[in-house]
Order: sequence, then structure tokens, then C-alpha cells
Amino acid sequence: MIISVTNLKGGVGKSTLAQNLAVYLTQKGRKLCIADTDVEQQTSVKWGSVRAEIEDVNVPEIPVYQINPDTISDQILNKLGKNYDLVIIDGTPALTELTTRIIIMSDLVVTPILASATDVWALETFLKRFEEARITKEAMGGKVELFVVLNKYNERTNLDREIGETIGEMGINLLASKISTRVAYKEATVQGLGIMELKDKNAQGEIESLATEIEKLL
Ligand SMILES: Nc1ncnc2c1ncn2[C@@H]1O[C@H](COP(=O)(O)OP(=O)(O)O)[C@@H](O)[C@H]1O
Ligand SMILES: [Mg+2]
Repeated sequence: MIISVTNLKGGVGKSTLAQNLAVYLTQKGRKLCIADTDVEQQTSVKWGSVRAEIEDVNVPEIPVYQINPDTISDQILNKLGKNYDLVIIDGTPALTELTTRIIIMSDLVVTPILASATDVWALETFLKRFEEARITKEAMGGKVELFVVLNKYNERTNLDREIGETIGEMGINLLASKISTRVAYKEATVQGLGIMELKDKNAQGEIESLATEIEKLL
């Protein structure tokens, strides 16, 4: 099973959500790894190395692999896909062939966006790419679905709520779970942890809700 957390924008929370889903689902007993495709940032690779230094039985190591765009299919499909029940791809913001390959490889694409007009416009470009890739995959007898999740969401702001509604009206699958702006997400990343390993109950509730929603789609 392959889930990718991807979008064509940087800074929308791809790495943050990939890491938090990984920690949550590891706690639930899934044998998983993260495949980091962002060669520029390598955020999850760095997060994984910080995590590997933590000596605490309650913080199990999560393998994070740096993916070479030229050999991604071999690395993910032939190797990681065979060794793990679940591969979580931390996506790239580049509108390149790599994005298409990631989509085709995935069973499920989770696309984080911020509640802003620029993000909705960028989403339209991404959706075109997704649709092309989905048709290619379908022609090969495969299936891939896309779900959008709103990140850094503020439900008290009218604009944020309206953007949420707009996306729903665009006929795009929007996950009911929303992720708010919280310092805990930043803290978790620098410490090599997931929200479930910190003390912020509200953030934990959000990740639990998101992961549960995603698990039902698998
Ligand atoms: N819900 C959130 N609340 C607070 N900070 C967040 C949240 N999601 C992401 N961030 C922060 O925003 C920045 C970009 O997130 P990141 O996951 O690296 O995005 P991407 O992988 O899409 O480039 C990071 O500093 C991260 O800690
Ligand atoms: Mg990233």
C-alpha cells in the first residue's frame, strides 16, 4: 500500500503530515517507512535522523529513505513496497515527471493545502496533473484516489471556512479532518517526533482524526 502526501506547493505541510501519519500508524502496529522525494529539502530524512538518535523505547525508529527521482519506481515499487506494508511518500513541490510517477505509484494521494486563494489556484494545476496520471494508471488497470486536507486551518476565520466550502463545491474530495496552526507541529518536527509523542491533546485529536479517516480509505 502506498500513500503519498503531495502537492505542487512548498510549505503546505507535506512533510509534517507525512511524519505525523507515520508515527500514528506505527503506533497502530503498521510496518511502514517514509520515502522522501524532496531532494532539495530532505525534511523527512533529517527528521528521521534526529529521531534515530532518541533512546526511548516509546519512540520507535521510523525508516526514512531518500528517493532518487531517476530510480523512484525501482526503489519504491520493487524494494520498499515489498518490505513494508505501507510506504508513505513525502512528496515534491516540483511540477516534473516525478510528480506524475508519484501519483501513478500511489493508491491514495493526500494533498495538503492552506486555506488561501493562491493555494486553490495551485491546486487546480495539480488536479490537472493528477487527472492525467489517474487516467494513465486506470489504463494499466490500476486505481488512485485523491483527497485534500486543509492545513493551518482557522475555523474562526470566515475566509478559511469559505475556502473549505469552495473546495467541497469544486467536486474535490475534502477530508472532514482539518489541521490547525499549532506550535506543537513545528516542535514535533525539530525533535524528530510525531504529535502523538508530545503533550498537545488538541493536536493529537486532529492527527488521530485525520489518520482514522485515511485508514478507512485504505
Ligand atoms: N499545522 C501546522 N501548524 C504549524 N506549523 C506548521 C503546520 N504545518 C506545517 N507547519 C510548519 O510549516 C512549515 C512547512 O511545513 P512542511 O511540512 O515542511 O511543508 P512542505 O513539506 O509542504 O514544504 C514548517 O516549518 C512546518 O513546521
Ligand atoms: Mg517537505
